[in-house]
Amino acid sequence: MFYPDELVEEIRDRNDIIDVISSYVRLQKKGSSYFGLCPFHNEKSPSFSVSADKQMYYCFGCGAGGNVITFLMEYENYNFKEALEFLAERAGIELPQQSLSEEAKASWDLKTRLLEMHKEAAKYYYHQLKSEHGKKGYEYLMNRGLTKEIILSFGLGYSTSYPNDLYQYLKSKGYNDSELKESGLVTISEKGVYDKFWNRVMFPIMDTNNRVIGFGGRVMGDGTPKYLNSPETKIFDKSRNLYGLNIARKSKRGYFLICEGYMDVISLHQAGFTNAVASLGTAFTMQQSMLLKRYTDQVILTYDSDDAGKRAALRAIPMLKEVGIGVKVLNMKPYKDPDEFIKHLGADQFEQRVEQAINGFLFEIEVLKEQFEMNDPEQKTRFFSQVAEKLVGFSDELERNNYIEAVSNQLGISIDALRKKVNELGNRIGYVPKSETKITNAERKKMEKADGNKEAQRILLTWLSDEPSVYHKIKHIISEKDFVEPLYGRVAQLLFKQLEANEVNPAKIINRFIGEEEDAKLVAEVFNTKLKSGLSEEEKNRAFRETVLRVKKHSLDEASKKVQDIGELQAIIKQQAELKNISISLS
Ligand code: UTP
Ligand code: MN
Repeated sequence: MFYPDELVEEIRDRNDIIDVISSYVRLQKKGSSYFGLCPFHNEKSPSFSVSADKQMYYCFGCGAGGNVITFLMEYENYNFKEALEFLAERAGIELPQQSLSEEAKASWDLKTRLLEMHKEAAKYYYHQLKSEHGKKGYEYLMNRGLTKEIILSFGLGYSTSYPNDLYQYLKSKGYNDSELKESGLVTISEKGVYDKFWNRVMFPIMDTNNRVIGFGGRVMGDGTPKYLNSPETKIFDKSRNLYGLNIARKSKRGYFLICEGYMDVISLHQAGFTNAVASLGTAFTMQQSMLLKRYTDQVILTYDSDDAGKRAALRAIPMLKEVGIGVKVLNMKPYKDPDEFIKHLGADQFEQRVEQAINGFLFEIEVLKEQFEMNDPEQKTRFFSQVAEKLVGFSDELERNNYIEAVSNQLGISIDALRKKVNELGNRIGYVPKSETKITNAERKKMEKADGNKEAQRILLTWLSDEPSVYHKIKHIISEKDFVEPLYGRVAQLLFKQLEANEVNPAKIINRFIGEEEDAKLVAEVFNTKLKSGLSEEEKNRAFRETVLRVKKHSLDEASKKVQDIGELQAIIKQQAELKNISISLS
């Protein structure tokens, strides 16, 4: 499969990188670039930059970088073709037909069909809820205190007691048996055709783009299972979705609430906490954590107040911390879950509990404490040792001290005694268990020199792409061949062509390196290396001259190693001598 370069470039050009990345990462304008939290590594302060001029992104923290195509490849895990298809569709560009492989097309079509089918099914269930058949369901929801409005905004519905009326309905809409099987909404076997859900109130599960991707159905009473859920399908990956996120993502509150169940989310939203989402009874995953990170830096766990809920919170805390989300835990006692709490005590009391929510680490300590007999001095001592061990895990001294203070307050023990214990332990095992690789001085010198030569080539490329006018000052000295680092040589070849034609376009250059993943990143780095700012005119001139000379000198050195005959060598030596007298100036 092959797309011509011009088509690739047109697709790239018609998808503004700021628009595309904004739908994944919250970006803020700073000077000529946009900044946000890098989606490719965990960080607390934004080092991910997107440039509208260059149509490129680059992370100063982890080095991820590229153009709009590589962004989608990295972020969505698309291959090149999928990324192009996505962007072509987004920009309304038609791709040549034969370029879609049969297999890819079939899979893409099936996903589209399944999404349409789920939307139809949700509409059908909603319609049933509002009809005479669905009276029982509607009353159930009313009895649980839901309003008409909230039923509508969550698209709740009802599945009838007939064995397969959804199946019949979807058939009439033109879906075939094989598509219906893939949806998980029906089972088709020798025993007959049955809808998965009957006689339940239905909760459509939506992705962040408001597309229905699955359902949960609750019995209206005490039957089992209490909730039945869609299986995983081509469109429903449980570990990558959060119930209610499609609405919560728009919430203006600065934090998110994470709870366990459908009804908890809905009750919370009805009470004004439109920032609630649920992990739906299954264990919270790293993917969900990363998903949340796109929308917030702070969550409050409102898991059930039973043992299972406590365990779930203990599992979720490290995953949230890992991606740089601050975690607090809300105490719901004496009620089991947010739904019950709000029903009994109302929204204001819940708001108070939000304010009283305790820090995730202190919650961990609290749970740990329950495992020890605090009246027994021996057990108590063991408990404090474990607390100290956990505190040693904070490698930042200020943060560690803050936690030592908070924990000593929480446990009512002397801050000095606790600090002493933590420091003893820290000095023994070290606060930062880092593995240091030993490099000899000679090795380091050699590496630094090699790095310096490479760096000079990179800086010169950056300079040329940032200030194309500079090109004319050096083109009599430097050619693309002087970039001896193979990758930089390839970049130079493309860049010099653009410089010659007076149309510098870094993002277009990146097109050529897609698929050579690391290379695309390194090329992005070239175009995003920050040149030192705040230099005086004279200093800038000198830096420029040194950079050019270094690149040229290194190029000549390398060339002299490969010479075939004495004539060639003489030519090189002559050029080396001339370098000393060459005048290079920006002005
Ligand atoms: P809970 O048992 O705590 O139910 O399960 P709940 O949310 O309080 O539900 P109500 O208030 O009785 O209606 C928490 C979540 O676990 C999942 C559901 O997502 C549920 O919301 N679950 C529970 C299932 O998937 N299947 C079940 O049988 C039970
Ligand atoms: Mn409940």
